[in-house]
Amino acid sequence: MSNDDAWRGVAAEEVGELDAVVGAKLQARSRRLLGSLIRPHLWVSSAALVLVVLQNLASLAGPLLIAAAIDSGIPAALKGDTGILAWCIGGYAFSAVANSVLLFAFLRLSARISQDVLLDLRERLFRHVQRLSLSFHESYTSGKVISRLTADMESIGKLLRDGLDNMLNALLSLAFIGTLLLILDVRLALVVMAGFIPLVLVLRWFRRTSGRAYRRTRGAIAKVIVQFVETMNGIRAVQAFRRERRNESIMETENTSYRDANYSAINAVAVFAASVRFIGNLSLAIVLGVGAWRVTGGSMELGVLTAFTLYLRRFYDPLDELAQVANSYASASAALEKISGVLQERPTVVEPENPKPLPPGGAIEFERVEFRYSDQGPVVLPEFDLTIPAGQTVALVGATGAGKSTIAKLVARFYDPAAGSVRLSGMDLRDVADEDLRSKVVMVTQENFLFSGSVADNIALGRPTATRGEIESAAAAVGAHEFIAALPDGYDTDVRKRGGRLSAGQRQLVAFARAFLADPAVLVLDEATSSLDVPGERAVQAALETVLTDRTALIIAHRLSTVLIADRVLVVEGGRIVEDGSPADLVAEGRGEFAALHQAWLASLA
Ligand SMILES: Nc1ncnc2c1ncn2[C@@H]1O[C@H](COP(=O)(O)OP(=O)(O)O)[C@@H](O)[C@H]1O
Ligand SMILES: [Mg+2]
Repeated sequence: MSNDDAWRGVAAEEVGELDAVVGAKLQARSRRLLGSLIRPHLWVSSAALVLVVLQNLASLAGPLLIAAAIDSGIPAALKGDTGILAWCIGGYAFSAVANSVLLFAFLRLSARISQDVLLDLRERLFRHVQRLSLSFHESYTSGKVISRLTADMESIGKLLRDGLDNMLNALLSLAFIGTLLLILDVRLALVVMAGFIPLVLVLRWFRRTSGRAYRRTRGAIAKVIVQFVETMNGIRAVQAFRRERRNESIMETENTSYRDANYSAINAVAVFAASVRFIGNLSLAIVLGVGAWRVTGGSMELGVLTAFTLYLRRFYDPLDELAQVANSYASASAALEKISGVLQERPTVVEPENPKPLPPGGAIEFERVEFRYSDQGPVVLPEFDLTIPAGQTVALVGATGAGKSTIAKLVARFYDPAAGSVRLSGMDLRDVADEDLRSKVVMVTQENFLFSGSVADNIALGRPTATRGEIESAAAAVGAHEFIAALPDGYDTDVRKRGGRLSAGQRQLVAFARAFLADPAVLVLDEATSSLDVPGERAVQAALETVLTDRTALIIAHRLSTVLIADRVLVVEGGRIVEDGSPADLVAEGRGEFAALHQAWLASLA
């Protein structure tokens, strides 16, 4: 399945257009995942299974012992022989103790297994999502990933926590009690079994209905979380543009549809639980009638009938429980389907199986490269060739949406070209190990993300093995030392989440220091100087020149002074490189796009 197919699949799941075939495919996918999760715990799970079987046997001994006490023990005691009655009572006490001890052991063991499985799943999901290519994250959105990692995990956790033992108990009780009923009295047992026919029909209806309903709830809760995450991430824009009302109404719609999806899921449980109880009570009434008639007729003993009705109650009680469990089960399996879908995604930018080491140097070549963001999307960069010799500083200029960032992202291999190849030092990027590539090519963008931790930690991201001295001289080289030293704890100042304590310009300087410390062969700066204030421009200019020496650089900038330090300017228009030359030459020619831009810049400075 190609990625696009997978996404179309996801989209279909979201809108709930699920036919039976798709449903079956999803279930097979989650079964495979479940199998791989349980396999490491196979032995412990078997032990738990043995415990729960023994516990059920212990709990089932009760009614049999009561029957024996009524039919043999009491009559014998009336004649003066209390031996049998004593055995029955002793046995009952023993089975009661065994029941509790085994239950305790089983619950502890199963809790351990299920918590380990959850941990494993959570880790796998995080590791996997973190490695998926940018293209996945752009279309899947962080809110949806968060809902997979939180709401869906929680729903599986709930089943494992509250449902698993109930479910096992119920299934085992059904099997054991069914057998016992057959042994106790075949004809009466057959009356009970007749009740199975409506039971199975109800169960099938329930599975189908609740499966559909719960898939809908997973999609709905994801939308709620997406909306929530988007609002929180964009809280400044939300407040600046007074979008609160509009967000509230979107949220209300999503929340309402989540409620309605849950509503219909729980409705299905209500119908199921009520039907099960009705069928159970009806069977009990019929058994009691038939049994009483036979006891009075002398063809059945009272003790057997007592045991039979006691067992029958126990036969239907777990079914009642099963209805509750079925609820968590349906919810958890819908969640597992979603999670298995994410785990099935493959990175679109694939690491090579046999990576080749990057030779030194930093020449970049685009050979007959064509690019589009998705298979069916528009061509963003029509076929082009471009050679950048090692050590050259190239400025990309052009209108917004021209394709500058796209070219930059291809150099850093955030995407692979649709056709042709991008090469670094003569090596196709697709043949280079990620690790190697990331140490040779560093991209700094406007985003300048800072992780929670100290300023020093954030600079050290460029080269984790760097000493404090190296970190400080990197900061000094890009002109960031002064402001960092002036922070409350200097380099140890916690930047808090998203660098809340630093201004946009300061964050940009930290990102520069990070890139400088990484000392890559190729540096890509995508509007990385845009937040630096103009008064500091000369310092920035000096810092930039320090950072750019001795490496190949691709800079996208809107400021004339930045563009003018480049050896070469490429003007990009509609995905094509329309001008290519040194800034001086392009200006001297005086006809092209760049010359016009240059004029406009000069005018704005005057
Ligand atoms: N992630 C993306 N998915 C689909 N289309 C995109 C994506 N990013 C950019 N584009 C499109 O590619 C074109 C070039 O964008 P970009 O390279 O970011 O322009 P620039 O950096 O020159 O402003 C634009 O038409 C834009 O809409
Ligand atoms: Mg851009």
